[in-house]
Amino acid sequence: MDRRDFLKRAAVTAAVAGTGDLVSAAERLSSPEERPAPERLIASAPMLQNFAGTSVGVVFAVNALANGYVLIGERPDLSDARKVLCGGYRLADIDERVIQVRVTGLNPATKYYYRIGADHIHYGGGYDMKILGNEEDPRIYSFTTAGEGVKGRFCVINDTHVRWEAIGPELDKIAGLAPACVVWNGDASNTEETLENLVKIYLDHPLERKDYAACTPYLFCPGNHDSRGWANRHLERVWMYRQPEERDVRDWDLGRNFAVRLGEMALVGLDTAEDKLDTNPRFAGLFKSAEYREAQTAWLRDALARPEIASAPYLVAFCHIPLFDDDPSHNPGDVAPADKDPQYTTDYAYWQRTCGRMWGPLLHEAGCQVLVAGHLHRYRYYAPGPDRCWAQLVGGGREMKEGPGFPTVIEGEVLQGRLRMTVHNIFSGKVQDVFDFGPRKVR
Ligand SMILES: [Fe+2]
Ligand SMILES: [Fe+2]
Repeated sequence: MDRRDFLKRAAVTAAVAGTGDLVSAAERLSSPEERPAPERLIASAPMLQNFAGTSVGVVFAVNALANGYVLIGERPDLSDARKVLCGGYRLADIDERVIQVRVTGLNPATKYYYRIGADHIHYGGGYDMKILGNEEDPRIYSFTTAGEGVKGRFCVINDTHVRWEAIGPELDKIAGLAPACVVWNGDASNTEETLENLVKIYLDHPLERKDYAACTPYLFCPGNHDSRGWANRHLERVWMYRQPEERDVRDWDLGRNFAVRLGEMALVGLDTAEDKLDTNPRFAGLFKSAEYREAQTAWLRDALARPEIASAPYLVAFCHIPLFDDDPSHNPGDVAPADKDPQYTTDYAYWQRTCGRMWGPLLHEAGCQVLVAGHLHRYRYYAPGPDRCWAQLVGGGREMKEGPGFPTVIEGEVLQGRLRMTVHNIFSGKVQDVFDFGPRKVR
C-alpha cells in the first residue's frame, strides 16, 4: 500500500463513527477539511440499494462536503414530492464523498419518481456552518417497490471483480431485459483498500451506463472478496444496510440479508462470508464468519416463515459460495485450522459445506426451487437430489474470450405458471440454458 492509499484508508475509517477502528479518537473526530468549491457537487447518478416493499436506499457520490437529499413522490412531475434528508434521526448527515438517503414509508408494488440534490456545506465549527451552494440532478428517475403486485423479472450478476470489459456487456444485457431488480451475487471487489475504489465500483464507474442502478434497484449478497481490504471492512460507507425497521433487534447486524416478494416469487439473500476459516493464520484472527453464518440461520428460518414469503409459489435463494458440490476433490471450506488438505485441489472453499448443512435443509423444507450462487468463475448447473429439492445454478466468470470462464446474466421470471430461469452467455451473446420449475411444495 503506498502513502496515498494509506491516507485514503485513514479517510475511510475516519468517516465511520464508533466502529472500533485503528485510528486515534482525535483523528476520527476531527472535522473535515475545507476544500475549494468543485465544478460539480453531485459526482454520480444515484444507485438504488436494498430493494424492498416499503423502503429503498438512495446512494450517490459528491465532490465536496455536502448534506444530500431525495425528493420523492408518485407524480411524474414530483408535484407531490416530499424531501428526505440523508442520515438518521437527530442529525442530518454531512459527508465529503458518499451520500446515503434512507427512504421509508413507501407502499409495496408502487411506482415512485425521484430526484437527488445536495447542499454544499461549509463546516468551520459547531456554530460556523453554512450552505455554500445547492445542486440538483436535473433528471427525474423512477422505480417500483417490491411486492406481490409486481409483474417483473430479476437478473443476477456475480464475480464481476472490477472487470469493466465484462461488466459493460452485462449491464447492456440487463438494460435490455429491464428487470424489476438485480441481485449482485458477490465478488464485486478484488481487495479494496480505499473508499475511492468502492465509489468507482458501485457509484461512479468508467462505463457508459452511469445510471445503471438509478431506476433498477439492486440487492447485494457479498462474496468472499467483498470483505477483503481496509475499505471493504467498512463496506457500509457505500453499500447501505437495510433500513433498521425492516429487521428484528436480534438481526441488527444482518444489514444486507434480504427476503422480498417479487410477484409470485420470493427472493432470499444470504452471505456465505469468507472462503477461508476464521482460524486460518493468513487472516490474523480478523474474520468472524462462523457466528455470522449461524446468525443468518436464525434469520433465514424466520424469514421463510413470514407470510409474504411463505405464501409465494416460487422461492429463489441467493448466496455467493455454492452450498453443494458432488466432486470429492473440491474443498468444502471446513478443513481446520488452515483450509489445507492434500485431498483437495484448493486451499480455500470451493463450496460451503457448513452453510449447506445449516441453510440447505431449511430451503429444502420450504420447497425452494433454485439456489443461485457464484464464486467458481464457471457456469454450472446441479439438478435437485433426493434430499435436496433445490437446484443449484452457479453463475459464470469474468472472461470475455473463448473458454469456460464466460460471464453470465441469469434471468428469473414466472411464465404461464412456471418459474423460468434463463442463463445468458455474455461472451457469445446467446442463451446458454433455460430451466423451468413448477410451484413449490412445502415439506
Ligand atoms: Fe470470484
Ligand atoms: Fe468468490
